[in-house]
Amino acid sequence: IGPKIHRIACIPGDGIGVDITEAAIQVLKALAKATGTFSFDFTTFDWSSTNYLERGWYMPPDGLSQLKKFDAIYFGAVGWPDVPDHISLWGLILPIRKALNQYVNVRPTRILQGTKSPLEGCKREDLDWLIIRENSEGEYSGQGGTSHEDSEHTVATEVSIFTRVAIERIMHFAFKAAQSRPRKHLTMVTKSNAQRHGMVLWDKIFYEIAPSYPDVKTEKMLVDAMTVRMVLNPKSMDTIVATNLHADILTDLAAALSGSIGIAPSSNLDPTRKNPSMFEPIHGSAPDIAGKGIANPVGAFWSAAEMVRWVGEEKAADALMKAVEAVTARGVKTKDLGGSEDTNGVTEAVCRELEAIV
Ligand code: NAI
Ligand code: MG
Repeated sequence: IGPKIHRIACIPGDGIGVDITEAAIQVLKALAKATGTFSFDFTTFDWSSTNYLERGWYMPPDGLSQLKKFDAIYFGAVGWPDVPDHISLWGLILPIRKALNQYVNVRPTRILQGTKSPLEGCKREDLDWLIIRENSEGEYSGQGGTSHEDSEHTVATEVSIFTRVAIERIMHFAFKAAQSRPRKHLTMVTKSNAQRHGMVLWDKIFYEIAPSYPDVKTEKMLVDAMTVRMVLNPKSMDTIVATNLHADILTDLAAALSGSIGIAPSSNLDPTRKNPSMFEPIHGSAPDIAGKGIANPVGAFWSAAEMVRWVGEEKAADALMKAVEAVTARGVKTKDLGGSEDTNGVTEAVCRELEAIV
């Protein structure tokens, strides 16, 4: 028997998604080589907006069943100015998250060594959050419609769906995540003052479930007040659970507060492990810097590390993060973090670091 092989489906997508996926693959290959105990078998899928414009589809009809055969999926980003964003998102990433039952989106945020928060006086230890995003329904359930299109009477509905099953499972995941961290502190975010049905159900189920985790300290916040607290008192929070839309917004804010959108990772998980989970940086395709070779690959590497952890290679995941932070600590950073390196420079530095660490 040779070393264990992890089969990874790669979907680079559009814009900087292509650059950072390439960088992540390079680093993952270096990681596997350095450890010598496992390897990756990468299969790349050319599902992108460019190809959509030529072929008329993002994924082929059997796309989802092709993905099901892999141990994990690595995703870059999808979206390009020539295609309306709702077409690209609903053509590729959202169907994958939904069909593969990836009902949790895990988004850690902290300030990496050698980087700083734009918040004055915010020290590295002051900002260390784990944001758990509901990833299957809520405001992104896709329900609704448009009538009387292109007339002055146009009416459009965007219906949010909140189900007990989905709220219970995300809460259990969030409580367990909070329990596994030293502070054991969980903040639940809703908007149950103005949104009086779905959000009230969230609050209710949160307090129903809380007694099963007596060691976790709980609190509830309204989402608008949460944005203020994230900026003014980052230290007061640890694990955070929120709906699909709210957590989408809060995690971009969190990423900016921790230094850059370019470092933030995410894991789309099917905790039942019946389907492959998907790992991607939280940023989009960044058309404004695409093709320039300057995208920050750190969020891609951190996402790759979470993937490595998910497929069971804990030690290798830690080594990868250690290498990334050794590199940022030395000041080898892209422009968004105040450095002067390009994507390649950071990638090669991490690969070299891995040879030294592992
Ligand atoms: P974006 O995240 O692509 O870019 C926002 C800003 O952050 C831009 O100024 C960009 O240059 C900068 N930025 C993002 N990632 C960076 C990195 N790694 N290094 C340095 N700077 C970085 O968000 P935007 O502009 O709203 O969306 C662009 C496209 O991406 C749209 O088509 C959107 O729908 C799509 N998108 C796709 C996502 C996905 O595939 N999961 C997530 C978010 C947006
Ligand atoms: Mg987002």
